[in-house]
Amino acid sequence: MAAWRASRAVQTDVIARLIRGSILQPCQKSSRVISTAISTEAISHEKSADGSHTSEELIQWEDTFSAHNYHPVPVVFSKAKDAEVWDPEGRKYLDFLAAYSAVNQGHGNQRIVDALVDQAQRITLSSRAFHNDKFPMFARLLTSTFGYDMMLPMNTGAEGVETALKLARKWGYEKKGIPKDQALIVSCCGCFHGRTMGAISMSCDNEATRGFGPAVGGHVKVDFGDADALAAVLEEHGEKVAAFLFEPIQGEAGVIVPPDGYLTAVRKLCTNHNVLMIADEIQTGIARTGRLLACDWEDIRPDVVILGKALGGGVLPVSAVLADKEIMLCIRPGEHGSTFGGNPLASAVAIAALEVVTEDKLSERAEKLGEQFRAQLQSVQKTYPDLVKEVRGRGLLNAVELFPSGLGNVSTYDVCLRLKERGILAKPTHDTIIRLSPPLTISQRQLEEAVKALNDVFEFDLPNMKHDTEGSTIRKTPQACDRCGRYKYKMPETDL
Ligand SMILES: Cc1ncc(COP(=O)(O)O)c(C=O)c1O
Repeated sequence: MAAWRASRAVQTDVIARLIRGSILQPCQKSSRVISTAISTEAISHEKSADGSHTSEELIQWEDTFSAHNYHPVPVVFSKAKDAEVWDPEGRKYLDFLAAYSAVNQGHGNQRIVDALVDQAQRITLSSRAFHNDKFPMFARLLTSTFGYDMMLPMNTGAEGVETALKLARKWGYEKKGIPKDQALIVSCCGCFHGRTMGAISMSCDNEATRGFGPAVGGHVKVDFGDADALAAVLEEHGEKVAAFLFEPIQGEAGVIVPPDGYLTAVRKLCTNHNVLMIADEIQTGIARTGRLLACDWEDIRPDVVILGKALGGGVLPVSAVLADKEIMLCIRPGEHGSTFGGNPLASAVAIAALEVVTEDKLSERAEKLGEQFRAQLQSVQKTYPDLVKEVRGRGLLNAVELFPSGLGNVSTYDVCLRLKERGILAKPTHDTIIRLSPPLTISQRQLEEAVKALNDVFEFDLPNMKHDTEGSTIRKTPQACDRCGRYKYKMPETDL
């Protein structure tokens, strides 16, 4: 079994390296070259459990026929339940990404799937040109759950962010009296708010921004977690600032938890400068951090909250912006919308997704399990003090940061490949950080399995991997943000 696993690991790594281009030169990276470069000998034609296509075939087809806008760990999801995932060959894994926190309620949650099937048999789409009999119920449940007057439904997280930005600008002109076309949004270094033009214009991530300029203007950067820096920005530009957009914990940046008191200080500053406090809780919300919203950790009520991901219960894309009337009603009929936003199918799913969170007490569960999980990860850190720099997080949104010196020529992507071979699916964020964010329905025993796998990778795999000078990915040197130089703020450039 071990030998089989090892040979499969080598084979998968070879394919992964071919696909990632560490064996092929960059100029050879076309789909045509890849499909001929992977000879039939290199691909095992092992039959999948039900006789359908194998993982290797599927990965190759995806790579050939789909844009290369992701760098996946080479595993194919074929079936899933709660925290467990099976590939086409019937191998079982534990999911420690949960679709970037979109599967908080667990894969295939029966109540959510039932709601989906039931609603799909009645009506799926009305558009907001007409009313439907599910959306008002969703709107009522969402606003009462989070304590806001109104909501605006969208689909993806990035659309939710765009909505909040437009709402903030509209509010800025109509209510705050910012002169025409001069509104500013302040956002944080290291933030991630999605991939649309507006969202990447807030971003510090060179990969997300380079080659996509010019950025949407009217934007100022500030260090995350530094209330004094925000105070300085608002002191200087406050009259024109419509909103401060932030993640209460920066997820994609590597689960960066701000210092205690930061959210309270931000709330105060936004109130004093008449600036909308917009919390992007797309990744942190819906019980992920051990509270319904991560802002609840400091009992803070933002003016605008953006939700997505787990609002759709891991079943459909559902996002929403929450705000009180005086803000939300700045948007009038015809000024913003989405064909699918508020559709009855998504509404039925979101209602079920929210009910599961409340009825199954997922916040409490995430808080308790998260504490135990971090304690166990910290004991791994004690065993490997030269390798593990930090274990951090809240609830079940956690990360293990490794020292570059401890990793040597190995990347965290390589570590994740080894974790996969040991049955744990995780994804690195940046070069030295592994995010661990399983479905909130995961069991204590399954969390322990992941801790053991991580320990085993460090103990048994890493020493050998360091001898292999051909790591499957080369770690990149951290770079300053092209736009703001990171950890500094300045007025926006005209180009990204
Ligand atoms: C904080 C945050 N905002 C926005 C988004 C974008 O969401 P989506 O991918 O659904 O557009 C993400 C996605 O990871 C996120 O983590």
